[in-house]
Amino acid sequence: MKIEFYRHNISQKDIDNVVKVLNSIFLTTGETVGGFEERFSRYLGCQHTVGVTSCTAALHLSLLAYGIGSGDEVITTPMTFISTANAIIYVGATPVFVDVEPETANIDAELIEGAITPRTRAILPVHMYGQMCDMKKLREIARRHKLIIIEDAAHAIEAKRDGIRPAELGDAACFSFYATKNITCGEGGAISTNNAEIAEKLKKLRLHGMSRGAAERYTERYKHWDMEMLGWKYNMNNIQAALLLDQLVNIDKYWRRREEISRVYEGAFQDNPQVKVLKVLPNSKSARYAFTILVSPEKRDSTLWQLQERGIGVAVNFRAIHLLTYYRQTYGYKRGMFPVAEKIGDSTITLPLYPKLRDDEVEYIIRAVKEVVASSGKF
Ligand SMILES: Cc1ncc(COP(=O)(O)O)c(C=O)c1O
Repeated sequence: MKIEFYRHNISQKDIDNVVKVLNSIFLTTGETVGGFEERFSRYLGCQHTVGVTSCTAALHLSLLAYGIGSGDEVITTPMTFISTANAIIYVGATPVFVDVEPETANIDAELIEGAITPRTRAILPVHMYGQMCDMKKLREIARRHKLIIIEDAAHAIEAKRDGIRPAELGDAACFSFYATKNITCGEGGAISTNNAEIAEKLKKLRLHGMSRGAAERYTERYKHWDMEMLGWKYNMNNIQAALLLDQLVNIDKYWRRREEISRVYEGAFQDNPQVKVLKVLPNSKSARYAFTILVSPEKRDSTLWQLQERGIGVAVNFRAIHLLTYYRQTYGYKRGMFPVAEKIGDSTITLPLYPKLRDDEVEYIIRAVKEVVASSGKF
């Protein structure tokens, strides 16, 4: 059997929507992007969305929009993809890591206040694998210390915790439409916020700081543009937006299938002493971006390879980023500083999870994992 790590879910309707744009005049940021932004805001229940080229760009621009820069510190998690912390470095600020919770892999809110200094300006939590961090606690800490919260919601479009959605308590939430994400246009991202002024600023920052985009310059009589601030070239285009439109209509249907598969995995591994499954808390709806199991660190890599030999696509999301060469060399991070993130990073294996995964494939994966870990020690 050959089970890819990911199979996208692009439908004929998605392709037709892209063809419509390709047959039109306007390929760059225009009406289709505007339409997607509006629908995405409506889906989340927030006021503004700004489409960009990646979640990395979304994080970068959100930090810039809130004026975070040189000399500032931003608290984040070492259990994430590197783009979260890299974006902090892009604006000249310093990422300050705080360890994560062993049951969810999300930043441990109890440890945040211990990391706050007079230079701390923001918290950048990551809603790992689709489960939201404790946003109520984070908002309370942010209020006490006058900090901005930028949510890395790359995994979490459909998530909800304690009745709260992404972008509801954060000052901005950043999303990814990268190739393997819950909805995708190959590469893409967005920032959602309830702050109208910040949304306006983000629209300028995504296009060099220009006062008008092409859509505003070329409709009706030509109007000159000005450069009001130093921006970047991160604008989402109409082709990307077209690919996302109908996926957004079907997003909950796709989520239901991933939820169903995740529950089958959870049931299969719950009593297995060699495998640990991270918890989805009772008051939480996970967006179910990824399904991760933890196995004995000594056996993790050999387990990965044996699953690959059986035709199963697997990934590691993620090794703790403070241990990567650049972070060690630049900031002096060492093993032992964030033990929970390190343990997860050394043990984690991500299994296939997508709507097109069939029941017989899920069963095959479960059987393979159980057989391969049978000789491992207890987790
Ligand atoms: C947690 C997290 N944040 C940010 C990103 C970056 O997303 P993008 O590839 O859209 O820049 C990813 C991508 O995998 C991610 O997993």
